[in-house]
Amino acid sequence: MRPVLLSGALHYFRVLPEQWPHRLAMLRAMGLDTVETYLAWNLHEPERGRFVLGGRADVGRFLDLAADAGLDAIVRPGPYICAEWDNGGLPSWLLADRSARLRCHDRAYLGHVARYFDAVLPAVVERQRTRGGNVVMVQVENEYGAYGTDRRYLEWVRDALRERGVDVPLRTSDPPTDYVLAGGVVPGVAAAVNFGHDPETAFATLARYRPDDPPMCMEFWDGWFDHWGERHSTRDAADAANVLERILATGASVNLYMAHGGTNFGTTAGANLGGDESTGAYQPTVTSYDYNAPIDERGAPTAKFHAFREVLAKYQARAIPEPEAMPPVLPAGTVRLDETLRLLDVPPAKVAEAVVPPTFEELGLHHGLVLYRTRVPGPRGAHDLHLDGLADRAHVYIDGALAAVLERSGETSAPVGVPGGSATLEILVESMGRVNYGPGLGDRKGLVGGVRHARQFLHGWTAATYPVDDISHLPWGRRDRAGRGPVFHRGVLDVGEPRDGYLALPDWTKGYAWVNGFCLGRYWDRGPQRTLYVPWPLLRRGANELVVLELDGVADPVAEIRTTPDLGAHRFRRTRCRTVRS
Ligand code: GLA
Repeated sequence: MRPVLLSGALHYFRVLPEQWPHRLAMLRAMGLDTVETYLAWNLHEPERGRFVLGGRADVGRFLDLAADAGLDAIVRPGPYICAEWDNGGLPSWLLADRSARLRCHDRAYLGHVARYFDAVLPAVVERQRTRGGNVVMVQVENEYGAYGTDRRYLEWVRDALRERGVDVPLRTSDPPTDYVLAGGVVPGVAAAVNFGHDPETAFATLARYRPDDPPMCMEFWDGWFDHWGERHSTRDAADAANVLERILATGASVNLYMAHGGTNFGTTAGANLGGDESTGAYQPTVTSYDYNAPIDERGAPTAKFHAFREVLAKYQARAIPEPEAMPPVLPAGTVRLDETLRLLDVPPAKVAEAVVPPTFEELGLHHGLVLYRTRVPGPRGAHDLHLDGLADRAHVYIDGALAAVLERSGETSAPVGVPGGSATLEILVESMGRVNYGPGLGDRKGLVGGVRHARQFLHGWTAATYPVDDISHLPWGRRDRAGRGPVFHRGVLDVGEPRDGYLALPDWTKGYAWVNGFCLGRYWDRGPQRTLYVPWPLLRRGANELVVLELDGVADPVAEIRTTPDLGAHRFRRTRCRTVRS
């Protein structure tokens, strides 16, 4: 039996548009005939009612380029997508609306979803196979059964897609676990399963629920992602190729998750909560989404690519093109970032006053930093200062002096005293990714549970926001003053020919890096990721601006360009994947 779809995941939102044609060509060269992408709601509607469908968000163009590359497409519009993407793709502004209940048949939430679907689905609908295009399948929600049991909601999403003109086959997708499938399948929609191993059992489980559905693995997890502070995950190529072969031998369709992972640029990375029920310690996801996929972060074929190509060739009726030769990378070098600017000398984007500390979402801040300030009346002894619900990391200053650095899922309290009449308490909070999976979805940022000194809540705050997405307004050239808080550093990267490169910040601690104003993402000396991918389209011949915002301090502000990536010390995992117990 010939499998129906040989598909691979490639998210347009994790690759720069200039590189879409190359990555799509690499999928074809691996032996695939279909590309699968989610749609990222928070990319398309960054502010309520403001829709973006051009540039990096031009999914229509991505689908057309896929067609040009000889690829059909599976589209997974969510609205929830998981994907290690901030908030599972749900816009953070949704969390400011405390009345909206996520991922269920809730009027406020569905109203937002309806507007989003109205805006993005036309680009998909007009490209369906039924209208002469290349879109051959659309997914309903994402692993819904791993989250809830609201059948009415799933039916609403199914009907919302159909009402807007989606008429190609629909699928749900869930891990092959009884309680998950019980919550995830929906009448009138074929089901698919997601797994990393044991395809025979997975398809047998699926058949118990849906004996008539053509078998499909919507996510074959051929690699895995990484969290800050953990080891780098890899999966052995031969092991993954063996499972791929067994999937295809059953006659099932497959979608490789991922064919090419790409990068969580800027502040787009999500996070997990640990433990079997995804309710434990906070685990922010790293910037790279290399995923140990067959096509690596810069688009180069790996050993897994060649192993998969051999397997796919047995099932692919069409001729498989050779992969293009990869161009060279930037030469190794160093850049001094001598110019400095204190973050707290930059005018904040917004200042608000409130009796309790407002969340980032209430302040209209997607990600970045917020300086919360209050007066603590004294005198008082050294009691513990508690940042309840801290999300995610805070520098605490008493009268301008650093008193503690606190962290979610770490220490969130520190002893603080006010010997005199009163003191100024400032708490600079940095957000990391929003949880994208499980019961922790809807992860608000800031001082979410308020601030207590011993048992006493501290009231009366001002909050100043410092976004990190756009740094074009930074007032460089100010005379540097001594002071507190994070520091921007700036230097010039001289480039001959624009090429891919890898940015390393060996002496630095934690922060954000930008090339010519584009935020590459977060870095952290905790690892495992040690280098940030710098894609060639960001560079120009000659002088390029390199900016780093260092949160904790650097002795020698030197950045390195390296010729190879360093994603950290790895460990092979035969099957690191969702632990969903029966
Ligand atoms: C699930 C989700 C995906 C992704 C993978 C892990 O299968 O559906 O979006 O989060 O897990 O990478």
